[in-house]
Amino acid sequence: MSKLQQDTIAIIGLGYVGLPLAVSLSKKYQVIGYDIDPLRISELRAGFDRTGEVDSSEALSAGIMLFTDQASEIEAANIYIVTVPTPIDKHKKPDLRPLISASELVGGALSQGDIVIYESTVFPGATEEVCVPILEACSGLAFNTGFGVGYSPERINPADKLHTIDTIVKVTSGSSPQVSERVAKLYESIVSAGIYPAGSIKVAEAAKVIENTQRDLNIALVNELAIIFGKLGIDTKEVLDAASTKWNFLRFSPGLVGGHCIGVDPYYLTHKAEEIGYSPQIILSGRRINDQMSAHIASEVMKLMNLRKKLVNGSRGLVLGLTFKENCPDLRNSKVFEMIDELQACGAQIDVFDPMISHFDVPNKNFHVTNCPDNAAYSFIVVAVPHEQFKELGVQKIRRWGEENCVVYDVKSAFEQGSCDGRL
Ligand SMILES: NC(=O)c1ccc[n+]([C@@H]2O[C@H](COP(=O)([O-])OP(=O)(O)OC[C@H]3O[C@@H](n4cnc5c(N)ncnc54)[C@H](O)[C@@H]3O)[C@@H](O)[C@H]2O)c1
Repeated sequence: MSKLQQDTIAIIGLGYVGLPLAVSLSKKYQVIGYDIDPLRISELRAGFDRTGEVDSSEALSAGIMLFTDQASEIEAANIYIVTVPTPIDKHKKPDLRPLISASELVGGALSQGDIVIYESTVFPGATEEVCVPILEACSGLAFNTGFGVGYSPERINPADKLHTIDTIVKVTSGSSPQVSERVAKLYESIVSAGIYPAGSIKVAEAAKVIENTQRDLNIALVNELAIIFGKLGIDTKEVLDAASTKWNFLRFSPGLVGGHCIGVDPYYLTHKAEEIGYSPQIILSGRRINDQMSAHIASEVMKLMNLRKKLVNGSRGLVLGLTFKENCPDLRNSKVFEMIDELQACGAQIDVFDPMISHFDVPNKNFHVTNCPDNAAYSFIVVAVPHEQFKELGVQKIRRWGEENCVVYDVKSAFEQGSCDGRL
């Protein structure tokens, strides 16, 4: 394919966000895909994307772009797009180490006139306050006269084949009117849904972080409602179905909030708020509710066991689904682990079956991962993550793994009301 544009773009971090972006850009630009993980690079060179976001036959093996873990190879670029992770540490504070080291790497490669665009989710101010000084120090160039900076948050949703790079409006921003325009033009060239030029980098950063914070809070509200309705003996889904008939009722479903975005990004915002002396209340209370749902679900399952006169201690339980969301192989921050911990703390022995992963993917597991659950063996079964395979299987076949009178708990209401013994 002939290259239509002059720019050479280096993507730093080829994960869920960076790889699809690199593939998309490579249709129009010379692209260098850089990752610090040599295994990831060798897999991509072999045409394999373990995240499942990019179809191998589509682009990976076609030699359209260069995949590398060698820092020197990114120097040929004049536009750098940083898509490294922005996790939190064990104190739930932003862990900016990947962002800092990626900025050091890019700073070392920058030349006069280059542009660095950040896509990683951060708190408002991070690009200009944290990244720009590193770029200046490592490049010896001055901000805005030597190099420009942009911020364009990513909005993709893993495993969602409908909302893709091409079909999601992209918010763009830049450190000067000229840079803003170049950033906007770059994304316009690959996003048919169009772009939204934000007035500043901080506005673009804040917009991204509140999208996920709002979602986290809306889910926290329905999780709290599910706890209340559970105590009242009312089925939450039935209530939501009824309330959703009002034109302005916003529909969200209760469940576990894991992954590396919804449950993480609000802490970036609360960190910044606390730094400037404001103690956020609503955001953190929503986080607390969502974080306690694993324990709540485990306790609901154990209550049902008790009602059936089944002892939890020594029982065998089957958990269906381990990933942080359905139809996706991503295990990061999956809250199913915590739910399993709660059940195990009360003496249950857990087998996990998740067709989206292999047992090699599960780090430090203290439970058994199986590809073939035993028949008529389990005292309880928790459908934790309703992958399509489980829905296709249907609750009757799932019940065959359980012993007589087995408790089946349907966390996400994947099955007809009444077909399982409990649901959120
Ligand atoms: N995954 C999503 O759905 C999603 C959606 C929107 C925004 N985001 C944000 O995008 C960013 C990236 O997320 P992701 O899900 O793609 O992460 P990821 O973990 O899937 O991928 C990150 C990649 O970066 C590499 N990496 C880590 N440190 C590096 C470094 N210093 N230099 C080069 N490569 C490095 C890792 O090896 C990995 O391959 C995060 O800020 C995330 O919050 C993610």
